Amino acid sequence: MKKVFIVANWKMNPQRVEEAERIMEGIAEGIGDVKGAEVVICPPFLFLSSLLPYAKGVISLGAQNAFWEKEGAFTGEVSPVMLKNLGCGSLILGHSERKKHLGETLDMVRKKLEAATTAGLRVILCVENASELSQILQGADASIGNSLVVVHEPSWAISSSGKGNAESPSLAKKEISSMKDILKEAFGMEVPVLYGGSVDAANIRSFLSEAGADGALVGYASLDPATFSALVKEASLV
Ligand code: PGA
Repeated sequence: MKKVFIVANWKMNPQRVEEAERIMEGIAEGIGDVKGAEVVICPPFLFLSSLLPYAKGVISLGAQNAFWEKEGAFTGEVSPVMLKNLGCGSLILGHSERKKHLGETLDMVRKKLEAATTAGLRVILCVENASELSQILQGADASIGNSLVVVHEPSWAISSSGKGNAESPSLAKKEISSMKDILKEAFGMEVPVLYGGSVDAANIRSFLSEAGADGALVGYASLDPATFSALVKEASLV
């Protein structure tokens, strides 16, 4: 049985730390000792410390963004080194919502990728398609393949408040397979490629078995412990 990666992107939710702890506790209980899945929960920065005690077994913690410098005069930013020192192992980079709302460019993502892998974080790199992946990887050090998980996430498929239309598994399959080829060529190894965009407990299996994804990045469906636990269990059976 292959191990699948399920990444929970909580985005800018929930509004209180008590609620974040309630969701996390529900997920930890719901998933139990599920085998065959690795689950990375990515809450807002503010909740990382409070959720650290839950990062054990198949569950680990990730952040949703970081800056490209280690420290210094960069008001409002958080560095990959700070996250690593806190006990956070993974980092989402390049999410399309950052491009859309904050003007994040592929150049910025490239710099962040380098800084994060140097700091020892595993990067969950979101890209729209294979062409964007190639652009970001230009000049990337061949040694970062081990610290990389890539997500094929068409921005139009991302849900808005939990309602969206996922890409068809057959279309996703083409893009995922091109991405795997690019990654093999760049790093000489298999780098996991996930699918993201309106994933739920009902469609997760089709992305794993039909589209050939190695897991999924889950937004809104990761905020409800029962839904998310059901999704992880479905995924672990593939
Ligand atoms: P969604 O979000 O699952 O709510 O579509 C995915 C993401 O943007 O990370």
